[in-house]
Parts: sequence; structure tokens; C-alpha cells
Amino acid sequence: MTQQEDLSSTLNDLSLTSKPKSLKPKASYDKAALRERWNILAILSMIRKACMSTFARKDFFKILQIIKMSFVQRDYEGIFTDAINLEVYTAAYVPGRALCYYEIFCRPQILKFLNRPSQIYCVGSGSGSELAGLAAAMTRVPAERQRVNLVMQDIGEYSSILKSFETTIRDKWLLNEEQLTCTYEQSDVLDQEESNVDLIDKRFRESDLITFMFVMNELFVKKAPAMALIQRLVKSMKKGAHLLVVESAGSFSQLKVGNKTYMVYMLLDALQDLELVVGEDSRWYRHPDHLKYPIDVQNMRYFIRLYKKK
Ligand SMILES: C[S@@+](CC[C@H](N)C(=O)[O-])C[C@H]1O[C@@H](n2cnc3c(N)ncnc32)[C@H](O)[C@@H]1O
Repeated sequence: MTQQEDLSSTLNDLSLTSKPKSLKPKASYDKAALRERWNILAILSMIRKACMSTFARKDFFKILQIIKMSFVQRDYEGIFTDAINLEVYTAAYVPGRALCYYEIFCRPQILKFLNRPSQIYCVGSGSGSELAGLAAAMTRVPAERQRVNLVMQDIGEYSSILKSFETTIRDKWLLNEEQLTCTYEQSDVLDQEESNVDLIDKRFRESDLITFMFVMNELFVKKAPAMALIQRLVKSMKKGAHLLVVESAGSFSQLKVGNKTYMVYMLLDALQDLELVVGEDSRWYRHPDHLKYPIDVQNMRYFIRLYKKK
């Protein structure tokens, strides 16, 4: 399928109709803006397609309400250990995240990893936002240079969701296994059992880019093992490897140590072995107007840190 045909099918998918070629106005248009719009529509269309059966559930909104309440109570385990919650969470929360992550992966300091052979290890990425954002960003680099080995890790039973994403992505964006290899590893990243620690440390050692996107706060519910994980991570990372941390810019990311309160990134900024490459304490991702998706797509306020191992 050509890009033009794919654009038409994407627009059709979203119940927007593309004009027949002969009726197109000859007026000049901003190609870059059009490509951005196309990528955004394609991301949403891909997620909608991959989550079709979830949207068809009669209890979709009931489950979504329960998830929202669990977030307020910080009952993360309650959300992410129930299979049906995972599906509804993905259908509802992933679109906004994936659009935001697409923008993040397109930043030059990160896009360079998609433009050469790289291993990218995404902790807590089972719901597919990282996969969707990254695969969309890959359209920004020449196909012949794409050699990404993406290893996704999560505690939740996400394999069928990720499989559905992967199939839809390969179909829509024409990415083959050589351009993008996807692996899913299900485990508790904080679990101290030897075989788990060995595998996670191996991933830390061999990866060029390691991401923690909207997962740090959940890990820091268990402070001592989370701190131990960060220490192992920084020790294991190879020289020049990068660590990307993206998290809510609000009070959700506050961490109590003794009687003081810190933002999670303050703790990371203080680590001597890491050099700060990108650091923004608060940034909004606002999606374009008039998107078509079965439910509202959320805008996001986040902090971002990109570090390089010295
Ligand atoms: C708020 S969601 C964010 C998901 C995804 N990164 C995104 O941005 O859309 C947090 C994710 O972290 C995962 N998670 C929480 N605790 C974890 C742990 N101890 N080990 C691995 N994954 C964990 C959850 O299962 C969930 O998928």
C-alpha cells in the first residue's frame, strides 16, 4: 500500500472521507503539518482497531470508572492485575499517551536511536503506548536504517494486547521484523528473585535506551526496592546508554523521604553517574482538535528527563 492509499484508508477508518484526487484544490499546503496530522490520525486509528472488541463491551464505562477511582486511591495493583482492567485501561489511556510519546520519540536526542541499530528496553510498557509512539516515530527515519530491537517489560498480562498492537502496526506502517523486533517480558521489575534480577540487569546492561514512562511513581509505592532497582540500573547501564524518564508533573510524582517531599526527578538528577541531556519539569502535550476516537483523548502534563551514562 502506498502512503497516499494508507492515508485514505486511515481517513476512511475515522469516518472522514478523503476527496477524490481530481477535486483536490491546487492550493499549496504545509507538507510537514499534513504528515503530522496523518501520523496522529494513524496512531488513533491503529489503537481503535486493536481495541475494537474492548470498546464493544457493555461494561466498558463501568470498568473505566473503577479504574479512575483506583488511580485516585493509588491502588495500582488493583488496576494492573486484572485482565479486563488492562484492556479497558489500554483503550482509554493509551491514545493520549501514545500521541505524547510519539512527539517525545521524535525529539532529535531520542530519534537518533531509531535511525541506527539499537536495543530499547521499556519498563512498565505492557499497555502499548511506547510501542505505538515509537513505531509512529520510526516513519521519520529512512526504512533502510531502521533496526530497532524493542523489549517491553511489564508486570501485567499484556501479551495479547501487545500482539494485537504489533499486528495492526505492521499492517498499517509496513514495518517488518527486521526493522522492528518486538519482545514482551512479563515480570515484576522489583522482584528480587535471582533469575528475575539477572534478566533485568542483562537488559539494563545491553540496552542503548531504557525508558520508564509513567511507571516510576508506581514503583516508588515500594520505596526500598525501587531505590535498589535504580541503583542497579545506573550501575549496569553501559557508558553512553541513555535513560528516559517521563512522569506526571503533578503531585502524583512527589516522594516523601523522611519528613521532606521531593519530586521523583530530583532524586534522579542527584545521581553522579548520569549526565542530564534533557530536563523539563513541566510540559503539556495537547493533541490537535477534532480528533475522532470513541472516547475523549486526554492531554497530558508531564516532566521529562533524558540522562546519559557517563
Ligand atoms: C500508569 S501505567 C503506564 C503504562 C505505560 N508506560 C504508559 O505510559 O501508557 C503503569 C504501568 O506500569 C506497570 N507496572 C507497575 N508496577 C510494575 C512493576 N513492579 N513491574 C513492572 N511493571 C509494573 C503497570 O502494569 C502498568 O502497565
